[in-house]
Amino acid sequence: MSDSATIQERIKQLSDEINRHNYYYYMLDDPKISDYDFDQLLQQLIDLERQYPEYVTPDSPTQRVGGTITKQFESAAHVYPMLSLGNTYSEEDLTEFDTRVRAMINGPVEYVCELKYDGVAISLIYENGLLVRAVTRGDGVRGDVVTANVKTIGSVPLRLTGDYPAMIEARGEIIMPFDSFNALNAEREEIGEQPFANPRNAASGSLKLQNSSEVAKRGLGFKLYYALGENLPEQNHYDRLRKLHEWGFRFPDVMEKVDGLAGVYNFIHKWDTERKNLPYPIDGIVIKVNDFAQQQQVGATAKSPRWAIAYKFKAERVSTPLLSVDFQVGRTGIITPVANLQPVNLAGTVVKRATLNNRDFICDMDIREGDHLFVEKGGEIIPKIVGVDLGQRLSDAMPVRFVTHCPVCGAELMQNEGEAGVFCPDELHCAPQIKGKLEHFISRKAMNIDSLGEGKIDALYTQGLVQNVADLYDLTYDKLFGLEKVVQDENGKSRVFSFKEKSTQNVLNGIEQSKKVPFERVLYAIGIRFVGEVTAKKLARRFRNIDAIANATKEELMDVEDVGDRVAESIIQYFNNIENLQMVMHLREAGLQMEVGEEQQPVSQRLAGMNIIVSGVFSVPRDELKQLIEQNGGKNVSSISKNTTYVLAGEKMGPEKRKKADALGIPIIGEDEFREMINQ
Ligand code: IVH
Repeated sequence: MSDSATIQERIKQLSDEINRHNYYYYMLDDPKISDYDFDQLLQQLIDLERQYPEYVTPDSPTQRVGGTITKQFESAAHVYPMLSLGNTYSEEDLTEFDTRVRAMINGPVEYVCELKYDGVAISLIYENGLLVRAVTRGDGVRGDVVTANVKTIGSVPLRLTGDYPAMIEARGEIIMPFDSFNALNAEREEIGEQPFANPRNAASGSLKLQNSSEVAKRGLGFKLYYALGENLPEQNHYDRLRKLHEWGFRFPDVMEKVDGLAGVYNFIHKWDTERKNLPYPIDGIVIKVNDFAQQQQVGATAKSPRWAIAYKFKAERVSTPLLSVDFQVGRTGIITPVANLQPVNLAGTVVKRATLNNRDFICDMDIREGDHLFVEKGGEIIPKIVGVDLGQRLSDAMPVRFVTHCPVCGAELMQNEGEAGVFCPDELHCAPQIKGKLEHFISRKAMNIDSLGEGKIDALYTQGLVQNVADLYDLTYDKLFGLEKVVQDENGKSRVFSFKEKSTQNVLNGIEQSKKVPFERVLYAIGIRFVGEVTAKKLARRFRNIDAIANATKEELMDVEDVGDRVAESIIQYFNNIENLQMVMHLREAGLQMEVGEEQQPVSQRLAGMNIIVSGVFSVPRDELKQLIEQNGGKNVSSISKNTTYVLAGEKMGPEKRKKADALGIPIIGEDEFREMINQ
């Protein structure tokens, strides 16, 4: 195949075929070929487009695979403001809504009942049938442009079909189905990342990922609920969504026209129970006046339409006896009390345990031994203790006592002033904390040893091969091969896996690769309390090597932007500990980067002795300018004082800062002037 017309023709054929199967799959729930065959077709198209990028179209189905990197999301104004809905939790409020609506309308009113999807609102703009822009709700007036990410979502049509109008805005919710949510969280826990609290947060976090091919893996879905545009066909909401279905959108899975309040209540009751069987989360139902002319008559306030209302499901609540309290030691040493409850059915699952959060939580709620506790399950997946059922309290019930010593290592527990968490201070000898440090060390933003995960770390630790992060670098093929690890499947059943040839080699390769990880990430990886990713970067840039950090005084440390008293103290404490020093030495001997690489070495001393504050929006991300300041010998500071040399100001710099700079007579320079200064 060489003739360009033939190639273009083949690309079109493949695209059409893939689009057809996407339609069967996403719009009709009726796939005609296997996932494998579908992937084969897609791969053919990907290969062809890679060879002939000039023929890639913006609506090519390969766009769903992602690949676009968005460093910073632009914002865009909504064509029509994105309103929100009035909320209610009670049926009386619905009666009031109905009365208000009827007072403004002559004649019968038809309502449409829909599910209230629990995700993130999105506006999709189609021009001449092509999806050109996807914008988040933002503040309702402006939102973030997340087009590349949204294009990866299978149920979002990239091109419309049929007699669509020149411009249409489709609105709906981006949701994460429970299956995708559970898989994502399992994966995050495996690599030591914080799981998402609920599918809504997961959907919203996914939409803001910079790499769209990562978004493609998140299994998001789109649920259409509204359409806007000039002279759109049909006179009511229901028929308009039908029309959109003709143009390529999926019609809502559940949507009913009802005549009066009785129909609305029936719908609510049905879905309050049935929602347990839905594959995605909803948090209520939405009731809309169907007829557009009637909608106009009822009107809208500045914030929300008066012709629609959201009825939110109440969180389900039960009361159940507290049997005992466990005290768990977390990866960072924080002690979490967990209530063991008399098993009870709640919103479709049996609840046996629930967190009591911390000591203050137990005290504030005055939880006593043998109390009956109220447990609730709302939008969150995890059940919450919301109160004590005082009517069932025994007169002589004693307060629940918080442990004084670590239940794992026996060390006396501590609590920092002003913090709720009680913690075990023996971080170097307390098993969960050692494992936590190991997990943090291998995590993606630290050393990124993804061939090791929570399970393997557990095996290495419990079998005595690794006591601290430096021991990872003493592992050999012989030590690892055949090592067994026990894993639990989703039903809680244990299974034993052993390190085979390939996984052993993978682990060793991953560890070897990590020796190239730049110093700033090594500094983050060694787990100094309060030294996060950003602080580690700033420390690395200022001090340039680990010895300089280890020997720095508190004042020198606090001179770094964002390093306050608490962080400086923690760094000093870390390097005062002989075991930490030995471990750092061990890591250095293993060949890890203990100083900044060439790309971070100073390029000039033109800004030596200068304290510069960067404020506002620039042509490049602020961090890039901050890096330039450090590379040219200058210092980044975060607040204006008489010691500030310059304010490097971009657009939208805060008026307060400008006032302060003027008052102290500190010169304000722009990006161009700054670049001239370092390039002279
Ligand atoms: S209609 C002008 N329908 O709930 C009417 N909204 O505050 C626009 N939502 O931001 C909304 N399911 O993100 C509508 N079936 C549904 C919905 C729905 C979820 C969300 C939407 C909106 C919020 C209401």
